[in-house]
Order: sequence, then structure tokens, then C-alpha cells
Amino acid sequence: MTRILTVPTQPIEGQKPGTSGLRKKTKVFMTPHYLENFTQSVFDAIGGVAGKVLVLGGDGRFFNDRAVQVILRMAAAQDALRVIVGQGGILSTPAASNLIRKRGANGGVILSASHNPGGIDEDFGMKYNGENGGPAPESVTDRIFARTQELTEYKILETEDVDLSALGEVSLAGMVVEVIDPVADYAKLMAELFDFDAIRNLFAGGFRMRFDAMHAVTGPYATAILEGMLGAPAGTVVNGTPSPDFGGGHPDPNPVWAKDLMDAMFAEDAPDFGAASDGDGDRNMIVGRGIYVTPSDSLAVLAANAHLAPAYAKGLAGIARSMPTSRAADRVAEKLGIEAHETPTGWKFFGNLLDAGRVTICGEESAGTGSDHVREKDGLWAVLLWLNILARRIEPVQQILSAHWAEYGRNYYSRHDYEAIPTERANALVQRLRDISGDLPGQSFQGLTVESADDFAYHDPVDGSQSARQGIRIGFKGGSRVVMRLSGTGTEGATLRVYLERYELDPSRHDLPVEEALAPVIAAAEDIALIREFTGRDRPDVTT
Ligand code: G1P
Ligand code: ZN
Repeated sequence: MTRILTVPTQPIEGQKPGTSGLRKKTKVFMTPHYLENFTQSVFDAIGGVAGKVLVLGGDGRFFNDRAVQVILRMAAAQDALRVIVGQGGILSTPAASNLIRKRGANGGVILSASHNPGGIDEDFGMKYNGENGGPAPESVTDRIFARTQELTEYKILETEDVDLSALGEVSLAGMVVEVIDPVADYAKLMAELFDFDAIRNLFAGGFRMRFDAMHAVTGPYATAILEGMLGAPAGTVVNGTPSPDFGGGHPDPNPVWAKDLMDAMFAEDAPDFGAASDGDGDRNMIVGRGIYVTPSDSLAVLAANAHLAPAYAKGLAGIARSMPTSRAADRVAEKLGIEAHETPTGWKFFGNLLDAGRVTICGEESAGTGSDHVREKDGLWAVLLWLNILARRIEPVQQILSAHWAEYGRNYYSRHDYEAIPTERANALVQRLRDISGDLPGQSFQGLTVESADDFAYHDPVDGSQSARQGIRIGFKGGSRVVMRLSGTGTEGATLRVYLERYELDPSRHDLPVEEALAPVIAAAEDIALIREFTGRDRPDVTT
């Protein structure tokens, strides 16, 4: 027996999607009507789902399985034509983006809180991606939020759960539920982009790698591609079985949370290459034997060497980086004579540039790298492009980086985060910087002379839209820089992010410890922004 219910409801406060959809504590998502209200608001905001084809899946975190069933029942009650769902409700974010594009779907719903921990006491999230496969633009997320404020009812089918364990098609009150292998299409795309023969030879020659899936969604993808298709020895992928609470860990691929990988890569018998990815598979971390590669450097190296992979052999149209990302990539673009774009934080700002063919490769300092193959950042893609480059250059990661720095100069880089600070204090700090930014140029701090200072405003060259107040940029003579902005993804108070960069052209100074190289920039940031005074903290909570 199935029947369609129209459930009366009320608007729920605070359902405002941020940089990457709506993220809340899992228990909040589990409160009665919460998920349903937000889902209905998404459906309404996109003009309903009747007759539409949607992609659906998530990173497998706690509540993923329940949420998928609810969304399927709501889509069926509202006459969607077809929902393509990953087996077991699983899809990595880049795989979902690929499916939307490949299958010509109208859009997709992705369930994830990315790199945030999962579990009943941790985080859950939901985001909507449009027909280009990318995160919904602000105009759509604004409409979704507006709908959450006025919703009075939602429609849902009353029926049993759909069996998502078997591949194939089933009907849910007339709507087709197509259960697909979450890995197959994605793996095929990767095989088209990269020189799998070269990478296979690399592994056959004894090259050793450690891929840490952090108990998250890329486990099955990495195992199928690295061990299955590319012949890496069994055991190359560690923590490869996804679990609803990510093994109790924090699936955030950086030296802090992927410490095991760092330790392995700095040990005596370290493998040649190490990598990790996050909860939903869009972030990546790259480590060579005895050397961590910052995401900013990784973007620059990938851009400079992308032509070694078949998909990019004809060259790049342009490179885009988010504003706080180091300017290493700009130097590559300059040398290649291609466009360089600086966009606000968040992957969605790359979408227009990619759609318009203005850029081919994009990246963020927060471990996100990707290209025009999908409209999300893509963790495994970055790892495979590195492997393709390593397979062609046959040089250790360390050597590739040294050569890169010798050619372009080195952008020392670090990010300091001050978490859960009272919102009004964080706002006051930023407001003060806005107020004084006009007076900074010409002033010197710790021997660094300010060349430019502003609150970054982005003018999208494709659709002409404006995004103001994206963060304070302070540039010093010689190419060093401090950027400060407030996080848009935090769940508690405000998080101040301080991005520190020092440019060094002289190769004899390319091997300094990062903290030492950045010391003057860190001190200048403190002098300018009075971080201690405003935050009441004498050191950052997290340094990456
Ligand atoms: C953070 C990162 C940003 C990334 C976003 C979503 O946002 O800094 O680069 O796009 O997560 O993964 P933030 O908390 O800084 O607003
Ligand atoms: Zn993610």
C-alpha cells in the first residue's frame, strides 16, 4: 500500500545553506520534519521535481541511509521521473557531479558534511547541485533559504524502503529508482583522462604508494582504481572501508588529521608517494617521501605539468584559484601565457569560468583541486594526475618540487585558524581592518612594507555578478601576503582564518622551515590585525 501524504509543517529557523549546502549536527537533521522541510524547500526552489531526473547519494555517514529513503519518497510523491542513486545510497561528491553531467540529469542531491566528523553526535549535511554538476549558485541557495521561511507543507509517499543493495531499476509509485554502481562511471572517466598504461608501468616497476581513505567514501573508488585497474599492490589503500562515523576519526586530509599518513611518509621505509582524501572524496592531500606538498603548491605543480596527461596534452585554457590560495599558480599561468583568475572562497565560483571554457584547472588552499572534467573539486583526480606526472617524469616528489621552486620561486604558505571565537569580536576585527585598509599602503610592519590592502570584491567575468566583502587582502612589497577572512562553514561561533604567504625567489632560501620563513609575515599580521587583542587567544587553534 502506498499513498501520498501532504504533511502540514512550519518554517524552521536557521536552514540557511552556506558555502557547501546546509550543514548541521546530525541530531538536528534527525528532528521530525527537519530533513523533509529542507528537501521540500530545495524542490520548490528549483521549480519542483515533476518530470525531472535527479542524482542522489552521499558519503555514507550516519543517517545517510535514512535520508536517502526520505528524499526518494518525497521525489516520488512529487512526480520526479527518475532518480539515479548510488548502490547503498553511496556516491562521492565528484562521482555525483560526473553522473549529473554524463546522464544529463536536471540536478542532484548530495548528502555529506564533507570533512567534518560523522555519527549521531557529529555532523550531517545536504546540498543541491545543478545540471552542470556544480554546487547551486547563490541565487538558488537564496531561493532555498527563502522557501524554508515560508513552508507550510511537504509531500511524501508513505511506503516501504526501497532496496538499494541490488543494482537495477525499480518503480516507486511510478518514479524509476535506478540503482547504479557508484564507482563504475567515475573510474571510466579517470581512465579517459589519464595515462593508465604509464601509471600501471610505474607500479609494475615497484613504485610504492599509500592512499589513506580515512574510512570515508573514496575507499571503494581508490581500491577499484589504484589496486584494481592500475595494479598497485593490495594494501596500497588503507582505511578503505567506509564507516558511518569514519572510524571515529576526522576525515579531513591534512597533516593534523592524517597524522598516520604523515608518520608513514616521514619514516625510514616510507613509500614513494602518499595521498588521502576526505569524507565525501572531493579534497586531497599529497605527500612525497619526507615532504608534504601544500595544496597551493600542488595546484601550481599540477598546472605546470598537466600536459603530461592525455586530457590536458593540448594545454590549459586558464588557471583559477580561490583568493586565499597562494599565488604560486599565478606564476605558472604567467609563464604559460594563459588566464589566471582569483575567485572568492568556495568551489561554486569556479563553475562559470569552467562552463565558459576560460579555465581548465582550479584549486583552493583547503585541499581542493579539480578541473573541467566535473564541476566539483576531486580528490582522486588530483592523486591520479600526480601519479600520471610521476609516471612520466620518473622523479621523486621532492625533486619535482625543488625544480618547480627553482623555476618559479617558492611561495611559503600556512593557514592559522582561530576557532569558536565570539561572533561579535570576530566581526569587529574584520570591520576594523576594512576601516583601516585605505591607510595601510606605504606603512611598514616587521620590515615588510604594505603595497596594497582591500576587502576582496569579485566581479564574475562570465555573468557579471558581484560578490563583495570576501576577505581582507594585504599585499607586501616583494610578493608576501596576509589574508584574513571569517569561515563560512563553521557550526560554532566564528572562525577567523589567517592565511600567510611569503614569496622567495632565491633558491638558496628554498629549504627553510616553513614557520621560520613565515615568522616576519606572522608578526606583521599580528601587528596589523591585533588578533590577540580581538580574539583573546595567544595562538591559533589549528595550523595547517
Ligand atoms: C572551507 C574552505 C573552502 C572550501 C569550503 C568547502 O570554507 O576554506 O576553501 O571551499 O570549506 O569545502 P570556509 O570555512 O573557509 O568558509
Ligand atoms: Zn569534502
